[in-house]
Amino acid sequence: MEKIVVKGVKQLKGEVDISSAKNSILPIIAATILCPEPIIIENAPRLEDVEVICRLLSELNCDVDISDISNKLIIDTKNMVEMDANEELMRKMRASFLIMGPMLARFGYCKLSLPGGCNIGSRPIDLHLKGFKLLGAEVKTDHGFVEVKAKKMVGSRIYLDFPSVGATENIIMASIFIDGVTIIENAAEEPEIWDLAQFLNKMGAKIEGAGFGKITITGVRSLKGTVYTPIYDRIEAGTFMIAAAITNSKIKINGINEEHLRPIIEKLKECGVNFSDYKNNSIIVDGTGTKNPVDIKTLPYPGFPTDMQAQMMSLLSVVKGVSVITETVFENRFMHVAELLRMGANIKIDGRTAIIEGIEKLTGCEVKATDLRAGAAMILSGLSAEGQTEISDIYHIDRGYVNIEEKFRRLGAEIYRVTV
Ligand code: UD1
Repeated sequence: MEKIVVKGVKQLKGEVDISSAKNSILPIIAATILCPEPIIIENAPRLEDVEVICRLLSELNCDVDISDISNKLIIDTKNMVEMDANEELMRKMRASFLIMGPMLARFGYCKLSLPGGCNIGSRPIDLHLKGFKLLGAEVKTDHGFVEVKAKKMVGSRIYLDFPSVGATENIIMASIFIDGVTIIENAAEEPEIWDLAQFLNKMGAKIEGAGFGKITITGVRSLKGTVYTPIYDRIEAGTFMIAAAITNSKIKINGINEEHLRPIIEKLKECGVNFSDYKNNSIIVDGTGTKNPVDIKTLPYPGFPTDMQAQMMSLLSVVKGVSVITETVFENRFMHVAELLRMGANIKIDGRTAIIEGIEKLTGCEVKATDLRAGAAMILSGLSAEGQTEISDIYHIDRGYVNIEEKFRRLGAEIYRVTV
């Protein structure tokens, strides 16, 4: 078993390079199913989740070359077969479900095992299925599997009860070849949706409005192979911004789009963090000033991202005063609170709200990464805590952060991975 060990308290300095967005590359890889020609994805992040979806495609007879993944990932789905996907890989990662829309579009059929619940909530897929049904597919769920089939799909107007990221992406991909127009209303507006649409449009799709609440897809006959570079990971960048704040440091972050980070930057400014010199996708983050408590409510984009909630809680645990965090996106995303309490934090939970009374200093101890972002929050807490923090279950962290301990070490942190 591997652990990450962090020794606090150290100021960070220097620069960090942000990788491409996990939440962009996963749907983009799924979308390669729509095109039977080679596709090159540049600056692909070497993440566990990326390897899982690549293995899934390989098992479906696609050629996936990940030998040089940090530079390029080459995928050719020409020989893909419409067999059922590997159940074990499907269960490993919820985002695997993103292959359903493109498989339905290409083969008119797809059968996958239903994604299980995960530790941040039950995460149903009803909105994905509602979309497929409205596009003319027959949907059947039994024995833990969901099967969709359609002889002919039809353009439709689909209103999502909630702007689900995955459902928006799956419906966009399912409707690419429909002879007619599909409109998604109350669509998710996350930058990663815009990125997926950019990628598909570059291959010849006709998608308008991605990144806004109403997306229009006009069907095309086929797509052509392309070379594409996904956007930077705004959540990784936000995690390093909080690292600067929690260690009272000033660092430079390379690889950001300020617009995508506005909800995070604005909240950190309110908290007392300063930002300057935004140019050429780089920004200086100055976390050396006095911090103020803040209230946060997680919301779909452009609201404050749920994927930054745990990291923000780490910071607020050591900011004098009372902060309140309300989690509205997932029903069970406070697993990290118990771990922060072990480090001495003063946090009370009332339903979907956490009340945090900032303390002087956290103290290092053994903690768990209860999910991906909670794991990042433990690293952040460890950086600012007195003594040594040992984080277990770090496979969660590897799902979404490239070489995280190496990136922190380059900023001067004392952090390393050990096998126990
Ligand atoms: C994506 C992100 C994840 C992020 C989340 C919210 C990827 C690979 N993952 O996950 O990092 O935390 O967006 O920003 O991009 N819901 C339903 N029915 C559905 C679908 C979703 O009720 O059919 C609910 C979910 O249970 C959850 C909420 O909607 O409470 C948001 O889920 P969704 O936006 O779909 O998140 P994901 O696409 O799974």
